[in-house]
Amino acid sequence: MIVHVFENAAQVARAAAALFTAQILKKPDSVLGLATGSTPIDTYQELIRLHKDGILDFSRVTTFNLDEYVGLPADHEQSYDYFMRQQLFSHINIKSTHLPSGIAPDMTQECRDYEELIKQAGGIDLQLLGIGNNGHIGFNEPADAFPYNTNITSLADSTIKANRRFFTSEDEVPKTAISMGIGTIMEARSILLLAMGEGKADAILQMVEGPITPRLPASILRSHPSVTVLLDKAAASKLSC
Ligand code: F6R
Repeated sequence: MIVHVFENAAQVARAAAALFTAQILKKPDSVLGLATGSTPIDTYQELIRLHKDGILDFSRVTTFNLDEYVGLPADHEQSYDYFMRQQLFSHINIKSTHLPSGIAPDMTQECRDYEELIKQAGGIDLQLLGIGNNGHIGFNEPADAFPYNTNITSLADSTIKANRRFFTSEDEVPKTAISMGIGTIMEARSILLLAMGEGKADAILQMVEGPITPRLPASILRSHPSVTVLLDKAAASKLSC
């Protein structure tokens, strides 16, 4: 795991966009794993700018998102499908995008189908991750064991509270999600995790310096051969070096 600490969040986003740019220039038909939430928004802005400047061509890129809320249709304003279209897809020339469906008639089958689709695409070249305050990645919450494949997961109370900001009331925040599993994420050839702000400092400390445990799901990333972590000073503030 390589950890870089930057002065501020804007620099994190520019560095992340640089790594995506290198990936797409090296392999124009890259398969990218994408995330939602506040963390990647500035990176997506940078990617849009690079596309508009004629540097990045997404026409042969395929994407798979980490997760989706169960029960929200794609046109719901808080669905991750909607988020991705607003924040990235509608601004670039991408044709092949995938998110797991939150409203499939058989959600267990949807989990299997999503895994299969990723395999058929040849696996993920570069997976982008944020991290929850409790150390979750995707929506794999702290648990007794690492969930391997794409799965239906109950959101932790702290995650529901953290995501409350996007909904008018806490009652409206979905309590379950469909998420790539830890195994799905670990099979990506390279992983890029971003974290900004003091609220992430404890999770980052545990991820980098604590034990590898399903109680802090992101800690498993230390056993992946190619993980880059980009932090601002605040997120890195509790690291010992
Ligand atoms: C989003 C996802 C989550 C977020 C995490 C951090 O697709 O899978 O793991 O990355 O909850 O969220 P933000 O970025 O809003 O702090």
